[in-house]
Amino acid sequence: MTKGTRPSASIVNLLCLSFGLTAFAATPQNNSATPTTDGKQLAIRHQLTRHTKPPAPNSIRGQLGDPLQGLTAAQLAAFTDGKDDFETAETVEGGLGPIFNRDSCVACHSGPATGGSSVVNVTRFGLLTNGHFDGLESLGGSLLQDHAITPLAMEVIPMTANVVAERNSTPLFGLGLIEAIPESAIIANSKKRSADGVQGRVSMVTDVVSGKTKVGRFGWKAQQASILGFSADAYLNEMGITNRFFSTENAPNGDQAILAETDKVADPEDQFDPISGKSDVDKVADFMTLLAPPNNGPLRPTAAAGKLVFDNLGCASCHTPVMMTDNRSSIAALRNREVKLFSDLLLHDMGTLGDGIAQGAASPTEMRTAPLWGLRFSAPYLHNGKAATVEDAIKAHNGEGKVSRDRFNRLNKDQKAQLLDFLNSI
Ligand code: HEC
Ligand code: HEC
Repeated sequence: MTKGTRPSASIVNLLCLSFGLTAFAATPQNNSATPTTDGKQLAIRHQLTRHTKPPAPNSIRGQLGDPLQGLTAAQLAAFTDGKDDFETAETVEGGLGPIFNRDSCVACHSGPATGGSSVVNVTRFGLLTNGHFDGLESLGGSLLQDHAITPLAMEVIPMTANVVAERNSTPLFGLGLIEAIPESAIIANSKKRSADGVQGRVSMVTDVVSGKTKVGRFGWKAQQASILGFSADAYLNEMGITNRFFSTENAPNGDQAILAETDKVADPEDQFDPISGKSDVDKVADFMTLLAPPNNGPLRPTAAAGKLVFDNLGCASCHTPVMMTDNRSSIAALRNREVKLFSDLLLHDMGTLGDGIAQGAASPTEMRTAPLWGLRFSAPYLHNGKAATVEDAIKAHNGEGKVSRDRFNRLNKDQKAQLLDFLNSI
């Protein structure tokens, strides 16, 4: 929230009452919402209608949600400032909508602390014909916005779409460390071929911030190269807030006439704060960059045995246990650090586990190796949030992950327990 430029929640509350403005939520057409999300969605809708700030997240679990250690006073202030924006519910007057998914970042990134994951899924759709994917941009694709500031603008999944995929909200802990890994290290991962024939592919994408071709490393499809780029993308596509990187509002199902009728706030809606010289997309990017990684507990004996099982199954050929940042970050706390992310940050052909959507450099069956750090805090699992447990997630591996999965299925009970103990400790 750019202080002073947007009305406070209470004023908006009054405005909403007097103009009868409320947010409307889509009824899922394709029974895409899993039963477990319903309570949460209702709660969020309730908050949204009242324009209140979400409740303080539960922070009893260790240091999740804390800033990196070793920050300067100015960096700590930037963290706190950005966290405030991340938790702020956007308002219609401040630019929310006309179509959007939720009114704050924390609505989807909350568990177990601000910046975490959640059960909230977003929906992507498109048309797949003979292996060619069409994101149906002219009809509002490929991302569905399932809320609107007025019923007139409500989006629906177009009849022509034959692929509908769910994407689960991911945790953001340690994102600055992931960004500080040099491109050369990710490219080096792609040159390795495991004994099982597993070899990942670098996702080369256009970075919206620099306009340059860079290694994509964020998102389920490694579709974004930078934290700032993802922040700007989320402001537009999840909340309908235009900004200097994405200055064109999304038209509801591509309909420009409805957009003109419902979009009353001048673009870009995200404005510079004259005091800090930053806008919300920058501040929220600061928060995510400075967010500490999940800390892994000491390995108990069973978990240490589980690490061996992990290696023997070939999990590590995609879930690279550790990578290093280089010394080039402007933030000292991010230089020359170990990043125990358990991902090679590459795309792999996962066969039936792919989500059917082509995005960035990723084909419909390719997915980015999901980082496994903090796994114990981020259920449900997989891109669609369909795996309730870590074991379910492993069993769904296919394509390049099939050999590894089959080995997992052949483990005895004790070995499985050791592996899961290990995965719960990282
Ligand atoms: C409606 C729910 C929702 C809202 C609101 C939302 N996100 Fe997300 N976020 C997601 C989902 C789902 C993903 C995974 C997207 C994908 O890769 O397709 C994600 C992924 C991300 C990632 C990539 C993390 C990674 O693992 O690489 C970043 C960064 C992010 N969100 C930042 C934000 C910011 C900043 C905001 C607010 C401006 C925001 N999100 C608002 C649902 C949401
Ligand atoms: C060929 C590469 C590859 C191999 C081998 C592999 N994985 Fe994965 N793993 C992935 C990808 C890609 C994803 C994301 C898939 C998705 O959701 O679409 C993933 C997701 C996961 C998840 C879910 C993470 C989350 O946050 O939702 C877990 C848990 C996991 N893998 C564990 C393992 C284990 C344990 C092994 C060894 C038995 C293994 N994986 C082997 C590529 C691999």
